[in-house]
This record gives sequence, structure tokens and C-alpha cells, in this order.
Amino acid sequence: MKVLCIVGARPNFVKIAPILSVMQLKEHLFEPVLVHTGQHYDVSMSDVFFEDLDLPEPDVELGVGSGTHTSQTARIMLALETECRRVEPDLVLVVGDVNSTLAAALVATQLGLPIAHVEAGLRSGDRSMPEEINRLVTDALADLLFATEESAVLNLRREGIAAEKILLVGNVMADTLIAYKDAAVSRRTWEKFGAAPDGYGVVTIHRPANVDNEKRLGDIVEALETVSAEMLLVFPVHPRTLRALSDCGMLSRLESANVSVASPMGYLDFIGLVAGSRLVLTDSGGLQEETSVLGVPCLTLRENTERPVTVEAGTNRIVGTEPSEIVREAARAVGEPKRPCKIPYWDGKAAERIVGALESLAPKLTMRCSRSS
Ligand code: UD1
Repeated sequence: MKVLCIVGARPNFVKIAPILSVMQLKEHLFEPVLVHTGQHYDVSMSDVFFEDLDLPEPDVELGVGSGTHTSQTARIMLALETECRRVEPDLVLVVGDVNSTLAAALVATQLGLPIAHVEAGLRSGDRSMPEEINRLVTDALADLLFATEESAVLNLRREGIAAEKILLVGNVMADTLIAYKDAAVSRRTWEKFGAAPDGYGVVTIHRPANVDNEKRLGDIVEALETVSAEMLLVFPVHPRTLRALSDCGMLSRLESANVSVASPMGYLDFIGLVAGSRLVLTDSGGLQEETSVLGVPCLTLRENTERPVTVEAGTNRIVGTEPSEIVREAARAVGEPKRPCKIPYWDGKAAERIVGALESLAPKLTMRCSRSS
């Protein structure tokens, strides 16, 4: 089965890694073709992930780069259509909820190619998030929907998606974390910031809703200033966030507080940093999951989450962006013990389940593909 595997942005690299590893073990059955759209292109946002995660060089690089959601999605679609016609895959496999995911799902549908979506069914209920639109459309088009948690299965069923298309397989991001945790921790990333294990917090903020709104960004900076009075905060800054903080004159406020402002990090350095931390403050989706696996308390600086299992597990709290609430919850979280969670199927074997399912469905998928070509 020739599987066109689409990646574009940081979290995609982390999710595809274990799937490619399992497919490589079954090379008599699978021929993965790795396509990098170029949505993320900096060394620190892309190349370092390929190195850290032992990913093969992409077979195809579309090199689309940055742009508005519409122009980025459209450019990926145009370039990918040509590649799909050239490669003639049996299946298009997409992961996560980024613009590359959506673009690939649309192209595959137009060409009559079957689609498998890994991390299907997550819903924040907030359609102002570009990722929510990407999830809704991708899931509506997908033929096979691999879910990370039970809530996602229920969301898909509620949207009328047939039960036989949905499979609860667990979390490929957890697969990667479990496989690379020891290597990550052995890097002792905290030492670069003069910190000791459990003696610091980690911050990541990159969502447009937080970063592109000066009031919300100001609230977050105010909260970080206060929390950092009690504990060093290490903040690897996404390029979008760096630009916004500089434009609003807020970068200097962080630099004069007890906040280490750093460049984006590779996978191993970053996971090592998080594993050694006492607390994480973030608006990332993946980090809500990774902190659950690691048992690190996480404050999510948003009004909602599409990953409710992380809240039920007890590591994640949805705290919004009001400074006093963030400061109160940070004080409470720091007083709690770190305890890794056991979430059903987040056991390092999600990729095996996904590839196993593709294997058993292969005859059906290739039949449909030959009908439509
Ligand atoms: C994207 C995903 C988001 C994911 C995040 C992980 C969408 C809609 N969003 O958001 O779900 O959580 O990736 O990081 O797909 N830039 C660089 N260098 C790069 C890449 C981006 O400087 O290598 C800058 C560009 O100015 C760009 C901006 O960052 O305009 C945003 O990048 P983009 O890929 O559009 O979205 P992210 O915010 O990274």
C-alpha cells in the first residue's frame, strides 16, 4: 500500500514519527511517501525535529512557507495535487489539525483518494480557532478516523460519522514521548538556564487568539511577571509571539522579570525541559497531552480545550487569561505532587494499532482507489 504521509508543522513531525517507524518494520506491505508541505521551515521549527526524531528526509518538499490561512492552504493544495497525480498513492494519511492537514484532505477528496485522519474527533466547540475548522472539515472528509480519546469518538458519532469508520487507538504523540523521554531528560536542558529539576516553570504561547490580541497578551505578560517572582520561568518563544511581544514593547518586561526568553527548541531539548519542570503554562494542544503523560501540572491559558481527557486526568486546568486566576492556579499547582497519568491506550502502541488497522483495511481501500481513478 502506497501511503502519502502529509506533514507541515512541528506537531505533525512528532505524530508521524512512530507511524513511519511501524510502517518501516512492515516494508513488504507499506510504501510510505513522506510529503513536507513547508508550513514550518525554520531550522528550529522543522529540521531539528527530523534530526531528533530520526525521521527520513521527506520524499517530497512543497516549500509553501508562511501566509494567511487561505493562501497557505491554497498553495499547499495546488502543489499537492500535482504530487498526488505523480505518486498515485493508495491512501493519504493526515495527522492533527494544521492547515497542511486540511489542505491534504481537500486534495485527496477531489482526486477520489481515501483519507485516514490521525487525531480525529477532537473539538473545542470554538469556531474562531482555525484548527477547529480544520478538524471539522478533515473529519467530514476522512474515510478512516483514528481517535486519541473517548470524547473524540462521541463527537464524531454525534456528527453522524459511521461507527465503523472510527477507531479509538490512543495517542501517537504519547508514543513518541514514551520512546524518547529518557534521551530527552538526559540532555539536562534546565542547566542551560541555571535551573535545577523541579525548580522552574515552562511557558509556551503561540495561538493567534492570545498573541494577536494586545489586551490578552498584556494580561498573560502580567501573570508571567507575577508567577516568575516565585519561580524562574523558561519561555521558548514561537516566531509569531516574538514579533507580537516586540511590536507591543512587552519583550523587555519579560526580560527584566525572572523569565528566560529563549528561541524555539528542538523536540529532545524541549521535552527534557518540560519533564524536569514543576509547572507548565501554555496554550498549546499537544503540550496539554504531553504534560499528562509526564505528570507535570499544566495551566492552559485558553477558555476551552479539545482534549478534555487531560483535565479529567487531573494534570490540566483550563484557566483562561485573567492574570489573578493564572497566578492563583499557578500557586495551587506548584503545591501539588507530580503524578503521571494512565489514560486508556496512551501506552506507546497507538501507531501499531493504526498501522494494524490500515493493514486489515488495505484490500478495501485499494479497490475504492482503482474504481475512482
Ligand atoms: C501552526 C498550527 C497550530 C500549531 C502550530 C505549532 C495552523 C492553523 N496552525 O501554527 O495549530 O499548534 O503550528 O507550532 O496550521 N514562522 C516562522 N518560521 C517557521 C514557521 C512559521 O517564522 O518555520 C512564522 C511566520 O511568520 C508565520 C507564523 O510563524 O506566519 C505562524 O506560522 P503558521 O504555520 O502559520 O502557524 P503557527 O502559529 O505556527
